[in-house]
Formats: sequence, C-alpha cells, structure tokens
Amino acid sequence: MPRHLHLNLFIHGRGHHEAAWRHPSASPLPLTDIRYYTDLARKAEAGLFDSVFLADTLGVGEDVAHAPRTWLEPITTLAALAGATTRIGLIATCSTTYTEPFNLARQFASIDHISNGRAGWNIVTTWLATASGNYGGTGPLSHAERYERAEEYMRVVTGLWDSWSDDAVLDDRAGGAYARDGSIRAVNHVGPHYQVAGPLNIPRGPQGRPVFVQAGSSDTGRRFAARHAEAVFTAQMEKATAKDFYADLKALAADEGRAPDQVLILPGLSPVIGSTEAEAHRIARELNDLSDPEVGRKRLSGRFGGHDFSHLPLDAVLSPEDFPDPATVQAARSRTEVIIGLVRREKPTLRQLLGYMAGARGHFVTAGTPEQIADLIEDWFRDGAADGFNVMPPVLPAMLEVFVAQVVPLLQRRGLFRTGYAGETLRAHYGLTRPDVRF
Ligand SMILES: Cc1cc2nc3c(=O)[nH]c(=O)nc-3n(C[C@H](O)[C@H](O)[C@H](O)COP(=O)(O)O)c2cc1C
Repeated sequence: MPRHLHLNLFIHGRGHHEAAWRHPSASPLPLTDIRYYTDLARKAEAGLFDSVFLADTLGVGEDVAHAPRTWLEPITTLAALAGATTRIGLIATCSTTYTEPFNLARQFASIDHISNGRAGWNIVTTWLATASGNYGGTGPLSHAERYERAEEYMRVVTGLWDSWSDDAVLDDRAGGAYARDGSIRAVNHVGPHYQVAGPLNIPRGPQGRPVFVQAGSSDTGRRFAARHAEAVFTAQMEKATAKDFYADLKALAADEGRAPDQVLILPGLSPVIGSTEAEAHRIARELNDLSDPEVGRKRLSGRFGGHDFSHLPLDAVLSPEDFPDPATVQAARSRTEVIIGLVRREKPTLRQLLGYMAGARGHFVTAGTPEQIADLIEDWFRDGAADGFNVMPPVLPAMLEVFVAQVVPLLQRRGLFRTGYAGETLRAHYGLTRPDVRF
C-alpha cells in the first residue's frame, strides 16, 4: 500500500504565533466560546485531516496578562467536538502526574464511545513547574521521577481499558444477561505509586484503547515514546534534526519489538501562507511586529523551569553559556536542547531568539506560497523526516482556511493525501491496529 501523509490540526489560542490573538485576521470569538473550537474542527474535517489536538497546562503562566491560550478544559471540549463532527480524530492532553489513572481511563473510554472511536490521548508528565502548587503543593517532581511514575501509570490505565473483554456486553434483554460471565476482570494493581483494584466502570470503547500520542523528545521521553506511543509530536527547527529524530525513534521502537509503521512521527509545522512569497513575508512581519519581547522572555524562563534571563540585554549576541545545562533542567528538557542548538548554530541576539520562539515556541516556522509549503511537506515526508505533520497555523482560523483550500488540494494531486476518509476511527485514519481483547 502506498504510504500516506497524516495531518493533525493543533489548536492553540487564536493561532500559534504569540501575537495571533491580536491580529486582524484572528477569530473574533472569545477563547471560551465553544463555537470557536467546533468551527475549527469542522474546517479541519472538511480538509480531511486525521485529527485535531488540544494541549493542556495545569496552571497559568507568568505571561498570562499578555498571552491568552486555549482555556477550555480539553476532555470536556472533546465531548462537544465529538457531537459537532463525524469523522475527524479527537486528541487531548491529560497529565499522568496530576490525574488519577481511574479518572483518566474512564474519561477517555467515554470520549471513545461518545465519538464512535475517535479518541486519542496525548500522554504528558507536565513540565510546568508551577502546576504542582495546584495539586497538593509538595513541589514539582524531577524529570526522571515523572517518567518513572508514567511507566507505572501506563500499566494501570492499559489494565483498566483491557478489563472488559471486547465481547463482554450481551445486553440480552429476553434472557436477562447484560454481560457475559467472566468477561470483566479486576486489575488488582499494587505498585510503588498506584493501587488500583478495577475493573473499569465502563465497557471497552470502539478502539479498545484511545490512540496513544506522546510529545516528549528527551532521551527518556524518546524511550517512553518507543514503548507506548502510536503517534509522536515533536518540535524540530530544521530538517536535519527531524531526520535524526525520525531514524532514532523508529529504531528505538523496533528495539522494543514494535513495527516502526505503528509509531507515526509528526513534527510541528507552522506555515505562514500567502498567494505570493512577498505576501507571506508581509503577514509574518505583521505578526512579529505585534509581539512583545518581554512576554517572550517570561515564556523562555518557564521553559527552563523558572531560570532568570532578566539580566540579558535584548540586542547582544547569545552564547550557550547564557543558558543552564539542559541535563539540569527539570521542565521542558528537550525544548531547551532545541533552543540551545539554535543559539549554537545561528548565534542570534536575545531579541532574534525571542522573535523565532514567538512564531511557534520552537517548532518549525516557514513563510511561502501554497506550492512552497506543499514542496516542503513532500520533501520531509519522502526524505525520512516525517510521517505527516502537526499543523500549527500561526493565526486561526485564517491560516487553517488557506491551508485547507490551497495546500491540501496540491497534496492530493500529488497522491500524498487522502481524497476521502476510508475508515471511521482515528486508528483507521492513522493506519494503526486495534488492540483486541478477548478472555
Ligand atoms: C506538539 C507538542 C505538544 C505538547 N503538548 C503538551 C501539553 O499539552 N501539555 C504539557 O504539559 N506538555 C506538552 N508538551 C511537552 C511534552 O509532553 C514534554 O513534557 C516536554 O517535551 C518535556 O519532556 P521531554 O524533556 O521528554 O521532551 C508538548 C510537546 C510538543 C512537542
């Protein structure tokens, strides 16, 4: 079967550019209005995207006064999106560090039923240091501890989703048998961090388990992804590092005994699209002119776990020594590696670095015509850098509309992208097998 490209829409604020919320082409709706999200999901579905994705942070950042985000709680929002769409996959972030596994398993099983098999879970351990203050205040866990707990967490939630056999529900009204004898089993998990009896209090969803998505790219994050993830989101600033990441993760997955085509790799892509190159660059400039470097400085500090960058002048060239060693960062470690890599390669000033980060927080940003964006997608896809893309429009809905109207048809004409949905579930769109359970 020919390999097909996968596209996910990452919904974030009024677009991924830090200043998108102020841009005249951004949505006029409040970010707490569900119509904003249903409209985006329907537009992505009209463009035959595999899925939409909602990220989540468990606290407000220090930049809150100048940086509106996606505010609605993601799992609740997915339930609304499930009712407003019919085919597109629905992915939300939920934290292993701050959510009881029984709650999470139950919520995603519900979303899978409500959406008829379209649920996906972005497994995060929560890098935001201040989140711990909202959950008992015992202080943030270290990077290693978070991933260690997450391993046990995966055993628990997988056990819960598999605690009902696929054929458990008989619903035999005449015979009076609702469930088949012996088809629902306890989990009885007792581990260092969790004690969960089970079984889950909801039958298995149409997909068995939600699709497992993961977005950590540190060494530990990659090994975790290789064991569990079926789709991997990653921030890469250039094709060369994306190719290294792609090869590394596929090899790690094979070492875990998994088929490499069952682990899709979707780097972030934030395309500023214009009918001419000049127009694309004009829109990019407009967005950059609206952003505030002091907001960017606060956000940079958050990525490095609260490190103080306030003494650095905006217009002096940076060196890697201006940053803490990534190995000591307990927050978003792999993103700090991406940032320091850029500093080493391109020697930007702080203002230039913050300008780049304002685009899409360290994901790949490019400006060009639809043809140029399609060329780039095709090149990365064919050259071992991506199985598809996590599309991060700089302004929403405007740049999604342009992408769907002008880039998608080019990809279809080149035979790279579907011209209709072939299946019903997110697993079907992504070409993933279903984990069947019978006992
Ligand atoms: C596309 C993308 C989306 C992410 N979404 C979230 C999110 O919603 N919530 C969160 O806490 N972390 C999110 N992350 C961060 C990662 O899950 C991870 O915590 C972070 O990269 C640090 O782990 P690492 O050091 O292993 O990379 C996201 C990362 C990427 C690349």
